[in-house]
Amino acid sequence: MLLRLAPLLLVVASPAFAQVPDRLLQNVYARDPLVLDGRWGVVIDPFETGYYNHRYEIASDGFFRDRKMTRPWELIEYDFDAGPALHVPGDWNTQDDRLFFYEGTVWYKRAFPYTPASDRRAFLYFGAANYEAHVYLNGERIGHHVGGFTPFNIEVTEHLRDGENVLIVKVDNRRRHDGVPTVNFDWWNYGGLTRSVLLVTTPATFIRDYVLQLDPDTPEVIRGGVQLDGPEAAGRPVTVAIPEANLHRRFTTDAQGYAAVELPATGLARWSPADPKRYEVILQAGEDTLTDEIGFRTIERRGEDILLNGKPIFLRGVSLHEERPFGGGRAATPEAAAVLLGWAREMNCNFVRLAHYPHNEHMVRTAERLGLLVWAEVPVYWTVQFENPAVYALAEQQVTEMVMRDRNRAAVILWSVANETPLSEARLAFLSRLAATIRRLDPTRLVTAALDTQRHEEGILYIDDPLAGVVDVIGINSYCGWYGPALPEACAGLRWQSDYGKPVIMSEFGGGALQGYHGTALDRWTETYQASVYEHNLAMLDRIPFLRGTSPWILKDFRSPRRPLPRIQDFWNRKGLVSDAGLRKKAFYLMQAWYRDKAAEWGW
Ligand code: GCU
Repeated sequence: MLLRLAPLLLVVASPAFAQVPDRLLQNVYARDPLVLDGRWGVVIDPFETGYYNHRYEIASDGFFRDRKMTRPWELIEYDFDAGPALHVPGDWNTQDDRLFFYEGTVWYKRAFPYTPASDRRAFLYFGAANYEAHVYLNGERIGHHVGGFTPFNIEVTEHLRDGENVLIVKVDNRRRHDGVPTVNFDWWNYGGLTRSVLLVTTPATFIRDYVLQLDPDTPEVIRGGVQLDGPEAAGRPVTVAIPEANLHRRFTTDAQGYAAVELPATGLARWSPADPKRYEVILQAGEDTLTDEIGFRTIERRGEDILLNGKPIFLRGVSLHEERPFGGGRAATPEAAAVLLGWAREMNCNFVRLAHYPHNEHMVRTAERLGLLVWAEVPVYWTVQFENPAVYALAEQQVTEMVMRDRNRAAVILWSVANETPLSEARLAFLSRLAATIRRLDPTRLVTAALDTQRHEEGILYIDDPLAGVVDVIGINSYCGWYGPALPEACAGLRWQSDYGKPVIMSEFGGGALQGYHGTALDRWTETYQASVYEHNLAMLDRIPFLRGTSPWILKDFRSPRRPLPRIQDFWNRKGLVSDAGLRKKAFYLMQAWYRDKAAEWGW
């Protein structure tokens, strides 16, 4: 099986979603980028005055011009340098009380020095901007991106000037009916430059993308490809080396600058949760050398089993939002990732569901370092407009950006196309097409989705959703004892039925509790009630013969505008096994013990 690199990033038909034409740069942190994080001046612009007025030469002329008063009588009605500042990376909601619920536009400004070098190219790389970004450099619009959780880059070689450069970004987090996600979701609508901004330089011809993974059909072979970009990309030598394995091979690019790569994998240690072994991989083409750390493993489905390196595995997981461990706000750093994923390891997890959107790259790389398998997901959540071609194009763009960023990461084993989407022909067509796109971009991993469409008849829950026939692994969200009439103790007796012959992951179950609030097993919101929900759901799960994983909802309490109950929620979703202050609840220890037993039962 030849792992072709992703085709050029889909330049979407609809102008409303016109994408930045540049294709995604692979492994940017290995290029010693200029990190533009830190204090950015901002202008809060709820009426988008600074965007629409630039057609008329008036006082609030386009904010992206960053005009300064040169004569005392001039009228300019904005000033990035005299106003508030925001830290990048970070959401604006938790940095300024005036912005806690804000949904609109904030303009960001960062000045930085640059000395052009004739044989170098330069790109601005954004880890993510939620939700829509317009990018301006030195007063000129250079790029645009829609989608709040995936990276994008813009070549600025011709736009940079010698000396000080002024980068201005308009970020608008308003929810859209034709968005992905759409206007209704159960997480905080954190806006802003929520992940790092980098200035990346490369040689004129450089290694833009590559993928190196074990071929699922012939796991003794690493197969993939290297894509060069630049005037001398075609017909050039490329070398790929894995020094520790004493591997060093040379390939030649084709007319499109692409070189198919094949390396022997015999003797390479397989990456696994027990031994998350990664190898230094050195790629070299002309003046460009790029180093990565790549783990090699296989993941496949065989009947109702998920096999990691050919051995059946049970995914002992937990779901997470991308929220800082203490106090909320977008998590964007390796340190936050280490704490959150450390809690998962403490709970005896070997797996995490990074819900409901692609998390930042540090989360994925930290999971890979800690030996946590990953379910990655695009925010096709609830009721997106499945019949709208522009919405499909946006979903496909986000899937492509997610896969292109992380497909060298051994930890990632599942790409999820959706969460709890209502049954319809349009939805099935939309998600089937999205699954096909993923399989074309990355044939080495499994496709999944979280469904909540099971049918309940006389104590039996039937998995009954045509999408289950499309995915490789079926995710099921089920809240027995929390939503619906059943009290927790009724859950233990429930049976599940599946006619799909596929592995099932219980991708969500659980209930809420205010940490420190105790009572009886019938007192809603107490840790006692939450523990009872877990106790009886775990008994139910123990009796599902085709169950191959669990990722209870959710590791940590998280902010949600849908959860206003005073003194209990206060705009926090309290289903965390850990509180927003990092304190474990009783149910955390139930999961920890259940997973300890699962590890013994499954032998890893
Ligand atoms: C849903 C949904 C989650 C949500 C959770 C809840 O299943 O997938 O995003 O937070 O239930 O109701 O808490």
